[in-house]
Amino acid sequence: METFDALSRHRSIRKYKPDAIPQEHVDKILHAAVRASSSGNMQTYSIIVTRDEKRKAKLWEMHYKQDMILQAPMLLTFVVDWNRMNHWCRVSDAEPGFDNFLSYLVGFADAIIAAQNAALAAEDMGYGICYMGTTLGAAPRIAEFLDLPPSTFPATTLVVGVPDEDPDLRARLPIESIVHDETYQHFDDKRVAATYQARETEGWNRYMSYPDMAKVITESDVRNLAEIYTKLKYTKSDNEEVSEELRQLMVEPGFFPADG
Ligand SMILES: Cc1cc2nc3c(=O)[nH]c(=O)nc-3n(C[C@H](O)[C@H](O)[C@H](O)COP(=O)(O)O)c2cc1C
Repeated sequence: METFDALSRHRSIRKYKPDAIPQEHVDKILHAAVRASSSGNMQTYSIIVTRDEKRKAKLWEMHYKQDMILQAPMLLTFVVDWNRMNHWCRVSDAEPGFDNFLSYLVGFADAIIAAQNAALAAEDMGYGICYMGTTLGAAPRIAEFLDLPPSTFPATTLVVGVPDEDPDLRARLPIESIVHDETYQHFDDKRVAATYQARETEGWNRYMSYPDMAKVITESDVRNLAEIYTKLKYTKSDNEEVSEELRQLMVEPGFFPADG
């Protein structure tokens, strides 16, 4: 597949066949990941490959029981990793200054760019992928389970495998609302409503098509798609609870100040 075709045809896959991924394909996916740009070419990330069924089952529990984790043969967890770099600096008598928030952001960007390279390589070979945002929600548990050392932080996870579904492409917001010519083109109420108009209908109908979700929506006081996001999917209290857990996880390696 041409690169542009692969980019244009992307859709997340949430149902997988159990077929294993041949090692040479795994190697290509990982090769693509490590060929990604990284800040100072320091490659401040690590990739943990999980294929063992029992270990996948444990991760499935941590990832809020998303079944694609059990179905797909491989999970790739991308980890912010300053541990390796710090260690190398120390054995070189160079005192590292990387246990701070800037370095955490640098490592997070490196990890995500590597993940997206892996995702594209996998899709190019006909595999399906899905990112797992639950990596952040379960970061302390995942860090412990993967035996992560100090100065590391789990950033995201990719599920990779042979698709067992063929979903439609998901629509995107109008490109003019995303791309700004020279300076930010500010939104007034009318323009922001127009920007999300198609999403409102498509998103609402999609959530109402899932029987469990339709029941929750109908029994709640949720009136529109924005409220599905704010009252059901990503609530302030859930976000704050996870943020506090992440803050604590970042304080220990020094990525975040203890009194921050
Ligand atoms: C960082 C990140 C985290 C995500 N986490 C999840 C997840 O936990 N579960 C899931 O089903 N999809 C997850 N997704 C997939 C998004 O829902 C999906 O990309 C989005 O709805 C657009 O659909 P598409 O990828 O099919 O175009 C995640 C995507 C990203 C980029």
